[in-house]
Amino acid sequence: GKSGYDHFMLKEIHEQPRALRQCLRGRVDELGAAVDIEDLGDLSPTGVQFVACGTSYHAALYGAQLYRRAGIPAQTFLASEYATAPPPIGDALVVGVTQSGETADTLSALREARHRGARTMAVTNTVGSTAARECDHALYIRAGPEIGVAASKTFASQLAALNLLALGTAPVDRPRETIAGLRDLPGQVQALLDDSRASAVAEQYQDAGAYFFVGRGHQYPVALEGALKMKEITYKHAEGFAAGELKHGPLALVTDDTPVFAVVVGDGEQARKTVGNVKEVEARDAPVVAVTDGRSDVERYADEVLEIPETHPEAAAVLANVQLQLVSYYTAKGLGRSIDKPRNLAKSVTVE
Ligand code: F6R
Repeated sequence: GKSGYDHFMLKEIHEQPRALRQCLRGRVDELGAAVDIEDLGDLSPTGVQFVACGTSYHAALYGAQLYRRAGIPAQTFLASEYATAPPPIGDALVVGVTQSGETADTLSALREARHRGARTMAVTNTVGSTAARECDHALYIRAGPEIGVAASKTFASQLAALNLLALGTAPVDRPRETIAGLRDLPGQVQALLDDSRASAVAEQYQDAGAYFFVGRGHQYPVALEGALKMKEITYKHAEGFAAGELKHGPLALVTDDTPVFAVVVGDGEQARKTVGNVKEVEARDAPVVAVTDGRSDVERYADEVLEIPETHPEAAAVLANVQLQLVSYYTAKGLGRSIDKPRNLAKSVTVE
């Protein structure tokens, strides 16, 4: 059952601390210096291609960033577009990110990858799923069953599992810090859930005409995911952009009726540039909701702030996403939508 929550989605959002703990359990050594994952062996790919759909595609975009930062060429493809991908070369690994392990587009891309001679891996929540059975390797995200059609906790667990995968198979810079960031996440997500202003923000903007989400670097996939969640469960127009792309077109749509959610983490170059983009939308009178750890001066240009605890940029993506999940959830609730079973959508999409 829903354990007292109004919807499975809210229950599953609140299950994230536990899901994240399960994902890490037994996979990090005692010193917090290395990961040790069943079934990875001594895999060290010279290149990685990710294939996935929907929310899992957003997780895969993030996964490829982790590899590229470790100096390993990595690309992400929509599974349904994999036919246009270059062939995997050398010791390439093709990773299908699929919560259900049954998504037809993803299964088909993985089969194509195998046909092209690549080694394949499923990053999945479902033991014994088709993807897990057909791939050479399976990495389980261990989020537990997800009933809500809109993915929530599985996205957080995918991000954590992809960090473990990168740590276990690539020369990730400063692994101890990344591991420490992952270990802090369950407690930080809990603190955020206990003290979020997301329902007040949702109520304030629930009648808006459209919603935009922006972020850069690790926060760009979070912006895309924030928009997808908003569309799926509120039926309202929402779009996610790389923050830098706003001025290349989407800015034409920005008005006082289009709240812009900006994810700004840290106080470095990336944050400074995103704050610059935020100033541009603020100048067009758009309401700005900053999702931030408070280290930049974005709050000066924001109408509302959704705080996240300070951590590493990779881990911050999980935290920022939780705030955006809550905003979508409470917006949909305020609008009286069918949150756990949105119209036209199915939990597992088994046709191409
Ligand atoms: C969005 C959502 C879908 C799935 C997509 C892939 O909330 O749930 O976009 O992420 O259909 O599903 P899996 O991960 O099962 O391959």
